[in-house]
Amino acid sequence: MSEEHTLFPVPARLLDPSQCPEPYVKSLEEYQELYRQSIENPDEFFGKLATDLLSWSKPFHTVQHGGLEHGDTAWFLDGQLNASYNCVDRHALATPDKIAIIYEADEPNQSENITYGELLRKVCQLAGVLRARGIRKGDTVAIYMPMIPEAIVAFLACARIGAVHSVIFAGFSAEALRDRVQDAACRVVLTADQGKRGGKSIETKRIVDDAVKSCPSVETIIVCQRTGADVPMTPGRDFWWNEETSKCMNYLTPEPMNSEDPLFLLYTSGSTGTPKGVLHTTAGYLLGASATVKYVFDYHPGDIFACMADVGWITGHSYIVYGPLVLGGTTVLFESIPTYPNASRYWELVAKHKVTQFYTAPTAIRALRRLGDEWVEGHDLSSLRVLGSVGEPINPEAWHWYNDKVGKGRCAIVDTYWQTETGSHIITPLPGAIATKAGSATVPFFGIDVAILDPVTGKELVGNDVTGVLAVKKAWPSIARTVYGNHQRYLETYLKPYPGYYFTGDGASRDKDGYIWVRGRVDDVINVSGHRLSTAEIESALIMHHSVAETAVIGAADDVTGQCIHAFVCLKPGVSKHSNDLSKELILQVRKVIGPFASPKKIYLVEDLPKTRSGKLMRRILRKIIAGESDSLGDISTLADPSIVAILIKHVENS
Ligand code: PRX
Repeated sequence: MSEEHTLFPVPARLLDPSQCPEPYVKSLEEYQELYRQSIENPDEFFGKLATDLLSWSKPFHTVQHGGLEHGDTAWFLDGQLNASYNCVDRHALATPDKIAIIYEADEPNQSENITYGELLRKVCQLAGVLRARGIRKGDTVAIYMPMIPEAIVAFLACARIGAVHSVIFAGFSAEALRDRVQDAACRVVLTADQGKRGGKSIETKRIVDDAVKSCPSVETIIVCQRTGADVPMTPGRDFWWNEETSKCMNYLTPEPMNSEDPLFLLYTSGSTGTPKGVLHTTAGYLLGASATVKYVFDYHPGDIFACMADVGWITGHSYIVYGPLVLGGTTVLFESIPTYPNASRYWELVAKHKVTQFYTAPTAIRALRRLGDEWVEGHDLSSLRVLGSVGEPINPEAWHWYNDKVGKGRCAIVDTYWQTETGSHIITPLPGAIATKAGSATVPFFGIDVAILDPVTGKELVGNDVTGVLAVKKAWPSIARTVYGNHQRYLETYLKPYPGYYFTGDGASRDKDGYIWVRGRVDDVINVSGHRLSTAEIESALIMHHSVAETAVIGAADDVTGQCIHAFVCLKPGVSKHSNDLSKELILQVRKVIGPFASPKKIYLVEDLPKTRSGKLMRRILRKIIAGESDSLGDISTLADPSIVAILIKHVENS
């Protein structure tokens, strides 16, 4: 039977009170009833949830206002709250000795626990440093840090004083960092001397130095000592984290923020070459992150939550930092990689910290599956209840391996579909309620009114057994409110393509049972190991190289990384294609402009690209050639020079 027809019921263990805490949602009927309420009466549903999960310094009066039609979504109006108070103070008051953060360092023997009491002190002190450097509510602060506890402290210190943080993934190059710091005119950069990953050192501070050479907005750089390496410090601009924080008080009053005040920016890739700063606001985002940790991961007090993402991506924001901490939970911060010092690292981590919820990406699952079952076997994984997957479609083989070898058939698998822009999960199973299918994100989360649209007419495809583009009909609390400094781009990207709907950019089907299967992007965004990249961004990196005249970047299927990058490059006249080092140089070029994670896997140095007579590049043809579907290229008669196709096919076959 195909995967589409095979349902995996909720594991009996999860519903057995002698083995597991009672799930918050225990049956399909219960889910359906809650979902119905969330859609039919969102004010009551989310009003109650926001009161239950968040602490308010001033209660809200209106649950929601505006919406998708005009791009003016607002939630919990007139309310005031502070994210750092919600994530730290209230738990530090109630349970100061409870562990907030388990830091699993790159070297396994260097782990460290941080209690809520300690976290409060660290957050207040760094907030004091920022204040002393003149940072006020609404200012933007860049965070470019390795996966160390101070990174979380940095998020929360910004939130405490109402500064808007912009975390830039520490795998981005100096140039990419520069562009993002410039776009948001950040006044401070919070960073570290070096990073550590898989036993290797990363020159974090040097990258920052390089980046800020052309960032006049940056007045201050605060440097945390991760390795103690000798790094250059510019007097008057650069300060050591510990020296500065030690001068500050252990307590600093949190700034009361309006529900709709910005909490953070996070840059993500779209169809064009320039990344956009997706902006999330305080109350709605915190509610989305915490409600999904509670319901999707069925997080109970005492659970140990381990999300393996990097804090530089939205998954880290919502599921390492804000979601678990709003609930007063214990979150694991993992600095290393799944294969260091060997391929048992994840499973040693689970056994060592008695992890109850484990969250990773299909790429990691596929890579570990390839290395063999022996790396999982023999580790005590009995603490696990929920296994999450995120970032890309999970193929059935990886799903089954995760379910059988890691979950031993006793855990719920939650394939969570969402995006930087959605803030938190929007399509996902709930562990105690939804039977799963291998490869389907299943059903919408509370408040998410999913629609599948005909891509051409924009008409909603009602009923089951339909395929189209994935959209949402109504605003939900954690939807991004704007693109920083460019509301027009927000409207054009998400709200105008299908008026009245939020457009995800993904294709999807709803099967005969009403389950959603997300198929992947329908725009020029590609997904490599769960990292979102735009083809245009990679193309513009390549075109900056002096030898390159023209280029076309394509996402190709890859067994481990989901997709990988193939680049077709036409050289300028007079440049020899036969130079051995040119391909290497071009790969380096992409690493320099974006970062190592964006490296093309293959470069084809070609004479010409398939274009229509009006000069439009036909990527479809390149995609088909790469996929080995040259026999179904469709109509190529509109090409300016159809003979180019045969040449390209040969080129790809021979390389
Ligand atoms: O294509 C979808 C894919 O990742 C995109 C969002 O990327 P980003 O904003 O970087 O956020 C990643 C982490 C949430 C989506 O448009 N995607 C994410 N989760 C899934 C997925 N595709 C299929 N199944 C998923 N569970």
